Amino acid sequence: MSKKVLNKYSRLLTQDESLPAAQSMIIGSGVPYDDLDKPFIGIGSTGFDGNPCNMHLAMFAALQKKSVQEAGMVGLIFNTIGVSDGITNGNDGMRYSLPSREIIADSIESITGAHFYDGLLFTAGCDKNMPGAIIAMLRMNRPAIMVYGGTINGGHYKGEKLNIVSAFEAYGKKLQGKINEEDYREIIKNACPGPGACGGMYTANTMSSAIEAMGMSLPFSSSSPARSEAKKRECQTVGEAIRLLIEQDLKPKDIITRASLLNAMKVITVLGGSTNAVLHLIAIAKTGGIELCMDDFQKISDTTPLLADMKPSGKYLMEDLFKIGGIPALMKFMLREGLLDGSCLTVTGKTVAENLVAVPDFPEDQDLIRPLSNPIKPEGHIQILYGNIAKEGAVAKITGHEGERFVGEAICFDSEADLNHGIHHGLVKPGHVVVIRYVGPKGGPGMPEMLKPTSAIMGAGLGDSVALITDGRFSGGTHGFVVGHVTPEAMEGGEIALIQDGDTIVLDAKNNSISVQIPEEILAIRKAAWKKPPYRVSSGYLWKYIKNVENASQGCITDL
Ligand code: FES
Repeated sequence: MSKKVLNKYSRLLTQDESLPAAQSMIIGSGVPYDDLDKPFIGIGSTGFDGNPCNMHLAMFAALQKKSVQEAGMVGLIFNTIGVSDGITNGNDGMRYSLPSREIIADSIESITGAHFYDGLLFTAGCDKNMPGAIIAMLRMNRPAIMVYGGTINGGHYKGEKLNIVSAFEAYGKKLQGKINEEDYREIIKNACPGPGACGGMYTANTMSSAIEAMGMSLPFSSSSPARSEAKKRECQTVGEAIRLLIEQDLKPKDIITRASLLNAMKVITVLGGSTNAVLHLIAIAKTGGIELCMDDFQKISDTTPLLADMKPSGKYLMEDLFKIGGIPALMKFMLREGLLDGSCLTVTGKTVAENLVAVPDFPEDQDLIRPLSNPIKPEGHIQILYGNIAKEGAVAKITGHEGERFVGEAICFDSEADLNHGIHHGLVKPGHVVVIRYVGPKGGPGMPEMLKPTSAIMGAGLGDSVALITDGRFSGGTHGFVVGHVTPEAMEGGEIALIQDGDTIVLDAKNNSISVQIPEEILAIRKAAWKKPPYRVSSGYLWKYIKNVENASQGCITDL
């Protein structure tokens, strides 16, 4: 029997005698001559200083390189960028957040293609870094594993558990006089006590869970904290796992299928995950040539309950879920209840069901994941709404705490800064539906997250009496009655641009509708009078993004 070729791609570089300069450079970079015929594994990360979610990833990449070498292969570390959502939320840096997903995907594709890697390991911390990596893995379709950088530990102050959203909400509380200067400062100092991604079921932990559920990371990767022994062990043993994938020639397109994406959607529905998952999973599906649209999320929400009592709406953090068995224990529970397709393949080379056989069940006394008989909400929290101000759809996050219908008077802002100013000056009052527009993929640009205003609304005690709609998006940390991703966006002439202060807006998560209560003739008159404002940027990367980005219902992809 002929020996299987494991260096399918790198051999085109290392075994071609017409490429001596390439081989010389590889040797010059530290690869022994005798190792040139081994498989080459690209080990990438979004490691960079200045953000807890990514600060430790270079160290993880070094552990993985050693593990790859121990598995008889060549490990080559590379880096790409990341953008911290926690640092950019509420300022113009946020415009780069979602667009950075494309830079990450493009850069991983570029180095993997240009340097002929046979396989890929990639470690990421923040929200869109992970889908960026999965998009690149699908484009290249070579054996690949995602290693999550891990969740942060919880912070503490005055006996209360803190996380990054505590810091966002502290501002509103300070403005309202609910906390003093010292409390405000101490919350800032203690909310992020070291390395790891934002700790609630926000977007990073949502996407890591979705990626483990779709089979692209090893069991436990998404829930083991950044500083845990389990995370260290994962980095130290991942070399064997990627070697097995190369031997089996098991590639991302064998693992990521419609069925595995539906598994991912079900897991994040049970967890109450971030609405950003709608964008990212659609983008992943489109890259893989898999049919998936916003309505699929609605179908999953209609049949899958919200069971996890996790932040932002609930009590617990990802580190707490890890303590009771993590995502594998949740998936085992869901499989037993008929909520998952156990036949999907994963990066272990085994199916979901096979991976879960030896996984322990949740302890009896846990109250983080409710039983099916006592859900937090019988349906999912992600609701897809349509109506005369969102003809191509909008995404609502309704966890049940906020009610399912909201009727209120519109108060409109054409930028996040205007809204923050409005909240600060008491313009937003109970009964308002706050409209933030011209913050979509092209208008923002970059479809910024509106965590600062939603946190200020929460902090000001208006969370139960105000709703918010936007053509931008929300952080996974946002809670309250919020509807984002309104499509078409204002900058493209979407009807959200036509709403005026005082209009009545009806949001109905039971009937999945979002509408402004004015006659169609009036809307038509306003539409005829509408003038497209100039784009906010006219050069550089964001200008390229404006020209290429698809709308939110297409996952904001740029290579359609
Ligand atoms: Fe990185 Fe929140 S800023 S996960």
